Amino acid sequence: MGKSILITGASSGIGYALSYEMARRGYSVGLAARRIEILEKMRDELSSLYPDQKFTAIQLDVAEYESVPAAMQKTVDELQGLDIVVANAGVARSENIGKGKFVNSARTIETNLTGAMATVDAAVSYFLEKGSGHIVGISSVAGLRGMPGSSAYSTSKAGLSLYFEALRAEVYFKNIDVTILHPGFIDTPLNNMLPTRPFLIPVEKGAKLIASMIEKKVKSSTVPVFPWNIFSFLIKLLPVNILARMK
Ligand SMILES: NC(=O)c1ccc[n+]([C@@H]2O[C@H](COP(=O)([O-])OP(=O)(O)OC[C@H]3O[C@@H](n4cnc5c(N)ncnc54)[C@H](OP(=O)(O)O)[C@@H]3O)[C@@H](O)[C@H]2O)c1
Repeated sequence: MGKSILITGASSGIGYALSYEMARRGYSVGLAARRIEILEKMRDELSSLYPDQKFTAIQLDVAEYESVPAAMQKTVDELQGLDIVVANAGVARSENIGKGKFVNSARTIETNLTGAMATVDAAVSYFLEKGSGHIVGISSVAGLRGMPGSSAYSTSKAGLSLYFEALRAEVYFKNIDVTILHPGFIDTPLNNMLPTRPFLIPVEKGAKLIASMIEKKVKSSTVPVFPWNIFSFLIKLLPVNILARMK
């Protein structure tokens, strides 16, 4: 039987393109997000393109943590097993500190950090029982430094990366692979309103790179590797008076 993968945030951007890319590579795909009508359309299209693989549409709000285990179980049942879970669902909202936007900051943490942790927790529970599995987290280069104007977003991604470090150590002897990826700018609705997006790549290219990194079971990487690997190093050295101008 072929491999199967669950992707959260499959209704748009990276998750959408990655769903099609993994299907093209022969995987059965669980499509999870809140907008079920988009997922059902994707499921029907993917089923007619790849009739020998399974596809399922799962309505899921990752910030409703208690609903995540049931969504995971539904995916396992409908795909008849699950090998890889990608915690990709995320938001990026306007959230300058002290400007009355705290509700946006809280929602960012609830989705990108706690929601991703709930996804990982449910996945690990299943993989421990099964005796194998692969967990993938989509962090960001924005999590490598506290970026002005993106305080909660940076915090959510830095938190996710640290959580994955702990996860890797916890499941080290359990036959569970752990991958954490840090994309730079990939062209999606998440960021297409920004005035500048350095080193932007099309979402299809981003999805191909991410798919290859998943298949290679890369432990941790920027996406694409270059130039963001250099950026990751340099951003940590940047003095705060320069960072302050990057709003
Ligand atoms: N694009 C980039 O340049 C970039 C760079 C670094 C990291 N990332 C990360 O990549 C991931 C995907 O982002 P994207 O650029 O593809 O953004 P996007 O096009 O806006 O897609 C975000 C996806 O997340 C889903 N989502 C949002 N809140 C959710 C929730 N509470 N429960 C379940 N699903 C939820 C959305 O689906 P529904 O609205 O249907 O729920 C949508 O499918 C995010 O974690 C983002 O932080 C993106």
